[in-house]
Amino acid sequence: PKRIGILTAGGDCPGLNAAIRGVGKTAIVDYGMDVIGFTAGYTGLIEKDFVELKESHLSGILTLGGTILGTSREKPYKFVKEGDSDKPALIKKNYQDLGLDAVVCIGGNGTMKTAHRLQQEGLNVVGIPKTIDNDVWGTDVTFGFDSAVHIATEAIDRLHTTANSHQRVMIIEVMGHHAGWIALYAGMAGGGDIVLIPEVEYNIRSICKKIEERYESKKPYSIVVVAEGINHPKKVSAAAHIGEAIQTYTGIETRETVLGYVQRGGSPTPMDRILATRYGAYAAQCIAEENYGTMVAIRNNFLTTVPLEEVGGKLSLVEPENPLIQKARKMGMAFGDEYD
Ligand code: F6P
Repeated sequence: PKRIGILTAGGDCPGLNAAIRGVGKTAIVDYGMDVIGFTAGYTGLIEKDFVELKESHLSGILTLGGTILGTSREKPYKFVKEGDSDKPALIKKNYQDLGLDAVVCIGGNGTMKTAHRLQQEGLNVVGIPKTIDNDVWGTDVTFGFDSAVHIATEAIDRLHTTANSHQRVMIIEVMGHHAGWIALYAGMAGGGDIVLIPEVEYNIRSICKKIEERYESKKPYSIVVVAEGINHPKKVSAAAHIGEAIQTYTGIETRETVLGYVQRGGSPTPMDRILATRYGAYAAQCIAEENYGTMVAIRNNFLTTVPLEEVGGKLSLVEPENPLIQKARKMGMAFGDEYD
């Protein structure tokens, strides 16, 4: 039987344990494989730090947030100083010493890039895409995203009532350094009035005009959803920058909320549990079929694979012409680019 390793790398997100369970249970029960789990992402592979995963270890973890294996942002191919250990060589040696046939790397863009390098070095690798940001290229959706949108939407719902009571402009900042998916989805689901995302260039005048229009039409409060990665001076948060500008130019009171890591913690939504389980089980199947050097993906709700070499270095961003944006605009949502 094959012997495989699993690791979770990069920022955590809800659904990682569901994915570990999906890989592990399928590998053990359907294919009779031996499974080990590396601790703390690529660090475990470098330091040969791992745990044997038996089927019993995989029971009861489906609904848990975080990752039972731990994670890290270790990048083994990052430039090393003279005298540092040769991490890729250590990984190769450990892979061989442990008698592994394949490694499943669960992570985002950075993780897939490393996975591809390892594949090129002769390891057999299968990737599983995860991130709350939903910005992994090659798949329609990553697990973690639905959970983050759920949490952000609930926060926006709560801000509505307090904004209304005090007639304030509430600015809520959600995650997304490069991609505005969380802001767009949570903004739409929560009925945000203005949504600012890194992919659409905003201007303050436009934002203020929208707020003033609302004020004049007897809607004296507004909700502004901003992605953390929008263009702003880095010494303040995106929310603080936008809030201060709105208060200065409109004279309307503003308050800011930075949602932060709450978006990444806690139990996954049912949709994320299902997606992560499907990805995990399919990754185990890929190993059984020796379909290596691939990332499992979902397109139009069908599982498929994409070559890892196509994934690395690219991001799945919100196209400014995305139909959802068009629809949102028709519903009266502004994106801060309406006026010059
Ligand atoms: O997981 C993606 C992400 O949540 C980004 O949106 C965020 O900016 C980043 O991770 C921060 O993660 P960390 O502080 O763990 O490096």
